[in-house]
Amino acid sequence: MIPVENLDQRRYRLAYQGAAKKRTLCAVPLGALEKLEKTLVGKSAAMRELKENILKLCRHDTTVLIQGETGTGKELVANMLHALSPRSQKKFVAINCAAMPDQLLEALLFGYERGSFTGADRQTTGYLDNASGGTLFLDEISETSASLQAKLLRVLQERAFYRLGGHELIPADVRIISATNMDLRALASKGEFRHDLFYRLNVVKVATPPLRARKEDIPELALHFLQDVRENLNGEIPAEGFSDSAMAMLMNHVWPGNARELRNAIEHAAIFAQSALIEPGDFPRLNEDDKATMKTRGFSSEGSGASVEGLTAVDLREARRRFEEDYFLELYRKTGHNLKEVARRAGVDLATVYRKFGYLKKADPISE
Ligand SMILES: Nc1ncnc2c1ncn2[C@@H]1O[C@H](COP(=O)(O)OP(=O)(O)OP(=O)(O)O)[C@@H](O)[C@H]1O
Ligand SMILES: [Mg+2]
Repeated sequence: MIPVENLDQRRYRLAYQGAAKKRTLCAVPLGALEKLEKTLVGKSAAMRELKENILKLCRHDTTVLIQGETGTGKELVANMLHALSPRSQKKFVAINCAAMPDQLLEALLFGYERGSFTGADRQTTGYLDNASGGTLFLDEISETSASLQAKLLRVLQERAFYRLGGHELIPADVRIISATNMDLRALASKGEFRHDLFYRLNVVKVATPPLRARKEDIPELALHFLQDVRENLNGEIPAEGFSDSAMAMLMNHVWPGNARELRNAIEHAAIFAQSALIEPGDFPRLNEDDKATMKTRGFSSEGSGASVEGLTAVDLREARRRFEEDYFLELYRKTGHNLKEVARRAGVDLATVYRKFGYLKKADPISE
C-alpha cells in the first residue's frame, strides 16, 4: 500500500494521466492493452492479474464465470472481454437474471412463438437471437429458476435453443459470460444450483477483487471517477482533485460497496465541494451508521420520522420542508447514497435532487 503521507498532492490532480503500460504480451488485439488500462483502472497486483487474464481470455470463445462482491466491476470485466474479442463488432447483450419474473426472463432470452402464452400475438425473437455473433452476459446467474437452468444447459451443451412454444432448434452463436456475487460452487453442492450447469458456466473463473484488498488503487480510481463525474454532470464542478486528508479518508474506508460505493461517494463530494480540492467534509459520512445520523437529526431511524403531530407545531411551509428533508435523506440512505436512484424513486429529475441536497447541506450534519 502507498503510505498516504508520502503521496504528493499533485499526484491527485486531474492532470495526472495513468500512462498505459508497455505492451508486454504479444498476440493481443492492437490497442487492447491501452483500452483495458483506460477502462479498468488499477495497478495493484490483483488488478494486473485480472487484466492479464482478460487479455488471455478475450480472443477465445471460452465460457467465463465472473465472481466477485457487489460493485467490484463484474459487468465492466464482461464488457471488456467482449470489447476486446473478435465478436466486438456484434452486440453485447446483458441481462440481469434477478431483475424480473422467471417467465418474462425466459421469454426475453429465448423469444416466443405466436400463441405460446396469453398475449403472445406474434413471433418474437429473444436476446439469444439478438446477441447472435456477439456476447450474452447473464448477470446474477445464481438467481435463475430450475426451468431456466435446464434451458441454459441446453444452450451450453448443444449450442442451440427453442423459442417458447417452438419446435425448431435454433443455433445459438453466442459467447456466454455469467456473473455472480455468490459462491456458485457452494450453492451447487447444497443442491441450490444445477451442478452440470455450474461446470458448463465455470469453464474459466475470473475473480474481481474487493477494493479493500487493493487499497493502493484508490487514488487512481478516485481521480478516474472524479473526471467521469466532471464530464457527465451538467453544471460547473469546481473540484479538480483531493486534499491529502480527503484522500487519507478514502484510503482508510473499508468500502463494502467497492468501486460503486467509491464512485457514488465521489459524485456526492464533487457536487458539494466548493473549491478545487475536495475536502473530507464534502463526502457523505463514510463510516457512519446512517440510522444514527438520522437520530441525531431528531428523526426516527425508520423511514419518515417527522411525526404529523410534531409537524403541526409549525406552519405548512416549514412542515413540508421538514418532511422533504426526512424523505430525501431516507431515500439517500436506502439507495446506498446514489443520487440518480434517489431521483428515480422520488419521480423527480436529477436537478431537483441536487437542489434539495444543496439546500439540505446548509442545515444538515450529514455534510459537515
Ligand atoms: N477497476 C475499475 N475501474 C474503473 N471503474 C470501475 C472499476 N471497477 C468498477 N468500476 C465502476 O464501478 C461501478 C460498478 O461496477 P460494475 O457494475 O461492473 O460492478 P458489479 O460487480 O457488476 O456490481 P453488482 O454485483 O452490484 O452488479 C461501475 O460504475 C463501474 O464502471
Ligand atoms: Mg453487475
